[in-house]
Amino acid sequence: MEYKLKDTLSKDAFRYGYLVNKIAPFLKPHIGRIVLNMIIAIPLGLLDAVVAYALKPYMDCVINGKSWEFAGISIEQNLLALIIPFGIVLFALVQGLLKYTNNYLTDWTGNKISNSLKVELFRKLTSLDSKFYDINSSGIVLTRFFTDPETASKNIINTIKSFIMTSFGIVGLVCVLLYNSWKLAIIGVGIMAIAITPVTLIRKKIKKVSNATMVVGGDMTTNFNETFAGNKIMTAYNLQKLQNTKFEHQIKEQFDLTISLTKRVGWMSPIMYFICSIGIALVMFYGNHLIISGQMTAGSFASFVTSLLLLYKPVKDLGRTLTDLQTTFVALGRVFELFDLVPHIKNKENALKMSGLKSSIDFEHVYFEYEEGVPVLKDFTLHVNKGETIALVGNSGGGKSTTVNLLPRFYDIKSGAIKFDNVEIKDIEINSLRDNISFVFQDNFLFSGTIRENILMGKEDASDFELETVVKMAHLDEFLSTLENGIDTYVGERGASLSGGQRQRVAIARAMIKNAPIVILDEATSALDNESEAIVQKALDNLMQNKTVFVIAHRLSTINNADRIAVINEGELVELGTHNELMTIADGNYKHLYEMQFKNQQLMNA
Ligand SMILES: Nc1ncnc2c1ncn2[C@@H]1O[C@H](COP(=O)(O)OP(=O)(O)O)[C@@H](O)[C@H]1O
Ligand SMILES: [Mg+2]
Repeated sequence: MEYKLKDTLSKDAFRYGYLVNKIAPFLKPHIGRIVLNMIIAIPLGLLDAVVAYALKPYMDCVINGKSWEFAGISIEQNLLALIIPFGIVLFALVQGLLKYTNNYLTDWTGNKISNSLKVELFRKLTSLDSKFYDINSSGIVLTRFFTDPETASKNIINTIKSFIMTSFGIVGLVCVLLYNSWKLAIIGVGIMAIAITPVTLIRKKIKKVSNATMVVGGDMTTNFNETFAGNKIMTAYNLQKLQNTKFEHQIKEQFDLTISLTKRVGWMSPIMYFICSIGIALVMFYGNHLIISGQMTAGSFASFVTSLLLLYKPVKDLGRTLTDLQTTFVALGRVFELFDLVPHIKNKENALKMSGLKSSIDFEHVYFEYEEGVPVLKDFTLHVNKGETIALVGNSGGGKSTTVNLLPRFYDIKSGAIKFDNVEIKDIEINSLRDNISFVFQDNFLFSGTIRENILMGKEDASDFELETVVKMAHLDEFLSTLENGIDTYVGERGASLSGGQRQRVAIARAMIKNAPIVILDEATSALDNESEAIVQKALDNLMQNKTVFVIAHRLSTINNADRIAVINEGELVELGTHNELMTIADGNYKHLYEMQFKNQQLMNA
């Protein structure tokens, strides 16, 4: 199952039946309103025809002073002269009410459907695993999120409504045309058909351009996101110009696409008008003849011409409705492509709940790769006893972070096994597995909110006493007392308003309150200066107490103090033992690393 979202069309864009089946459950709760809306569309479509139809009795009877026969009832000219103007006002009133109800229902149902799609999509998004986020750009995902559900759900209601309205409009008006003169009707409708053909020809082009526009839109969003997330780097490397140029390029591309469409679409309307004018000229020419030869009344002719003019709009709308329908299905395809993604990492049936670690953690002949054919861990075997602290060292890119990321199943291994207390982690219920592991990374993410909220993410229902304890243990108390709002201080997006060391300590407090038996520290102090490193290290020491710990660090004392050290080189475990044991290996990897770093740190401290 592929995770990569397509840039434009999803593979299902043209499987209409499949898409209708998919959207149906979202329409179902609102079916009453949707049907009512469709029913209202019928009289709305027919209203134009009624007005055009009424012109004939008005002209022939009112103006020429005759009475009007309708369904065997004869209506006097005087009465008719009153009824028709009143009728028109009444009509406008009814039309207004229907239109209002129609618009209201369209928006209401459209937004409801769009919202439930978005909620479901977000749920899907949070359920996906790391790999999805590795391979899809945020721009593409955001577009799918903000544009497609809206396009899909609002269009679907609108399109069906327009379809009903325009169809009934067309049928009604054509009936009036035929009623007045079938000969003229053939001329009028024939010319109209010719005028409308270019629209159908250009539809393909419109679709192509709209897809290209989407790709550019996605690129732009990614650019925005990177400007936010990479703001420091951008400033530090003076990359503003590069980013600006990129953006200008995208804007230009968007412009070119829009204009290319305008160029192609722009001439259509004038041509259509031109063809229509020929039609009207012909109709007048022939109509004149019909009137003079007594085959048609002047009222009939007026009614006919009005119908013909009114017909232009619904016919054009019908063309647009068909294009919209296409867009709707394209958007639906993209929405449901995201829906259909199945998390690669999910619970097995009868998965076991894990409650604490009892004896050991085992990596057994683990093979792992991010990309097919590029092995990152090779035949990795490691037995860790409960309560042990294992330091992972080795070359950069060697697979240390990868190793620890496999424990909470951020990724699944290719072969071999990882076991907690002799149970494979893929047989353990995922949430309970993750509840048993605390992670502190190099750069810890804080959510926008207060420090308290961020710490409590480790344990929602923690007591005030617990909170106070971890604040002390994480060496946050002194810092918090300097803040006006203390623990209720708001940290900006990503915790931007805190220093690196402060952010780390909040993250450590979050990990502490979680009180998981397994602790993973991945370069938790690497990004810090000496001073903040010292205090963060104290906090970490508290976090590590009585836990089974995996620590990846550059600090020698941290590594020295570990019970055992695992040296990972290019994805393979090459040495394993205590500091003293490893130092006795002549030409050993660890000895080499140690001597190099020791020299560096002596230099730094000198
Ligand atoms: N999300 C990822 N997608 C693809 N490759 C990755 C990903 N993360 C790491 N790698 C690759 O896996 C290898 C091991 O990386 P990592 O475990 O981060 O090394 P270390 O932590 O030892 O520096 C590297 O070659 C790295 O490029
Ligand atoms: Mg790493």
